[in-house]
Amino acid sequence: MFILSANDIATLETYLQNQGWLINGERVSQVSVPGEGNMNYVLRITTADRSFIVKQSRGYVEKYPHVSAPADRVLMEGVFYKTTSVDRLIADFTPELIGIDPVNNVMALEDLGTASDFIPLYNSLKALEITQVAQLTDFLSTLHTRFSCESPPDSLKNKAMRALNHQHIFEYPFMKENGFDLDTVQPGLQAVATVYKSDDELKTQVAHLGQTYLSDGKCLLHGDFYPGSWLDTTQGIKIIDPEFCFYGPAEFDLGVMIAHLHLAGQNKAMVDFTLDRYSSINQINYNSLNGFIGIEIIRRLIGLAQLPLQRTLQQKQQLLRFARTLIMS
Ligand SMILES: Nc1ncnc2c1ncn2[C@@H]1O[C@H](COP(=O)(O)OP(=O)(O)O)[C@@H](O)[C@H]1O
Ligand SMILES: [Mg+2]
Repeated sequence: MFILSANDIATLETYLQNQGWLINGERVSQVSVPGEGNMNYVLRITTADRSFIVKQSRGYVEKYPHVSAPADRVLMEGVFYKTTSVDRLIADFTPELIGIDPVNNVMALEDLGTASDFIPLYNSLKALEITQVAQLTDFLSTLHTRFSCESPPDSLKNKAMRALNHQHIFEYPFMKENGFDLDTVQPGLQAVATVYKSDDELKTQVAHLGQTYLSDGKCLLHGDFYPGSWLDTTQGIKIIDPEFCFYGPAEFDLGVMIAHLHLAGQNKAMVDFTLDRYSSINQINYNSLNGFIGIEIIRRLIGLAQLPLQRTLQQKQQLLRFARTLIMS
């Protein structure tokens, strides 16, 4: 098995040549890390005339090596890009697929440039513009409608990744003893979370939402549509990292996006704008939507996949109460 590494350029170069990703004696001049990721090992390869991105998935989560994950998940991204690139709008929003190595779970992608993601939104270091929200919404509504079908292809069911996400979104945050001390995130957060971990009414609703998430649906979803998957490039917003893609309920993607607008403190007008614009293209089931918005807010506050949120305990409590209301409404 080839292990992608920035430390041994000679081996890396031979590997890239063997894959046909370097052409005509092209040499690697630089290897760097393009930006912070969570799940996978990602490098930018620079040669004399160009650069491209290579990404390898492994049997564990890069940021949390004790958490295991499907080793071949990068192949799902490959299937997503291959499937969706036939649509002009989606192709314009996403990097071009250069190649896939299914033996070693490596993918090569067009380099979208030294862009930052939208993670700084959580600290108000970056405000979203209405045109950007429009772009994000159009990406989703196009993806959801353009590739919709009654019986989803097996190649895009992504059951293993869905099972992993299901655990982290719908189960883990509500377990009383899950080995994650939330006071290490913020003193007092564990006690705040205990209220929700003991809330059986809420947990019943969350279990239903979890089943909806696990059921196959008609729309192709990105599956992880949050600011970490949005890149702010000189060519406008680009979308990356569809490893959690699957055929499911459109409201899951839309719910995640709106949850993060709330988590990033964006105003209600932004949320209403998103809903108006999306609903002019695709129908929304508001009951599921509210549920998915609520659960994403809760799991980001009391689950393992924490965000760099600068919020007081009181503000987090307020968000949690709001999220609960959405789920129970
Ligand atoms: N095609 C690309 N062009 C430019 N930068 C990229 C590209 N793909 C990834 N990156 C950078 O690498 C980071 C990690 O990539 P990502 O696909 O999100 O990995 P992970 O699955 O580990 O989250 C991104 O946040 C981004 O900064
Ligand atoms: Mg990512």
